[in-house]
Amino acid sequence: MRHFLTLKDFSKEEILEIIDLALKIKKQTKKGKLKPYLKDQTLGMIFEKSSTRTRVSFEVGIHQLGGKGLFLSSNDLQLGRGEPMKDTARVISRMVDMVMIRTFAQSTLEEFAAYSKVPVISGLSDSYHPVQLMADYLTMVEYGKDKNPIVAYVGDGNNMTHSWLMMASKLGFELRIATPKGYEVDASILADALAFAKESGAVIKIGNDPKEAISGATVVTTDTWVSMGQESEKAKRVSDFQGYMVDEAMMALAQKDAMFLHCLPAYRDYEVSEAVFEAHADEIFDEAENRLHAQKAVMVWLDKHRES
Ligand code: CP
Ligand code: NVA
Repeated sequence: MRHFLTLKDFSKEEILEIIDLALKIKKQTKKGKLKPYLKDQTLGMIFEKSSTRTRVSFEVGIHQLGGKGLFLSSNDLQLGRGEPMKDTARVISRMVDMVMIRTFAQSTLEEFAAYSKVPVISGLSDSYHPVQLMADYLTMVEYGKDKNPIVAYVGDGNNMTHSWLMMASKLGFELRIATPKGYEVDASILADALAFAKESGAVIKIGNDPKEAISGATVVTTDTWVSMGQESEKAKRVSDFQGYMVDEAMMALAQKDAMFLHCLPAYRDYEVSEAVFEAHADEIFDEAENRLHAQKAVMVWLDKHRES
């Protein structure tokens, strides 16, 4: 049985297989001919943090596949009153067919998976956001931006950055990351990515100069400066991230037809200007919609691999 907790656990071939499946599933969905791949299955969805896209896309996704989603907020579960995660895992995984969890520590996901009888999917942790990256890469494929991409990530060295590191280093493309000093990516995740990059041929560049990172990029991306759980640091972060907004002058340094991706929610005139956001709104909202199709593919793939 496989879990989907980080792209670190997946080979290039497996990632591309899921992307192909997502393209097929999206096509079937658009034609109204999606096969009920997960007929009568139940997906438990545990949320310890807020969500718009993750909740809606997983709940609608499992419904479209013929199953049912169960929204479980940690505010309502006994988990919120201190029931151990490993007990929660042993109970819930006897009753549902698959589990998605959005939580803080990556170790919480790992603990749940260790005690689970069914596949577990990360819906974001402080370390990674792997299903988002599947949607992002799917969008790059649809826009023809997956051929020798140069991706520039400008902003906080966070869960999104770490997942970009995994995606680039597994698939073998160029990723340039620019963060302010003190907001660099996690050193051990970077070390993992550099090891994968040696095998795949990926070029990983890390620095503190957003303009240098964006110059000549084919895909530009960023994320909030204040992730969930960091609200009390907002004032300091906003001050430390000055010069990191992706605005029109910054985008002008990228290749002329460069795409701009944002996992959302987007905070205008912090990490991205209103003008850049609206100029790329079609790409951004295709990316958001692709959460639905990419995650259906992840669920179908995990279902197929229960026995392997
Ligand atoms: N991008 C993303 O995961 O959005 P939500 O926090 O709304 O789920
Ligand atoms: N880095 C952000 C991503 C939100 C989808 C956060 O963790 O809040």
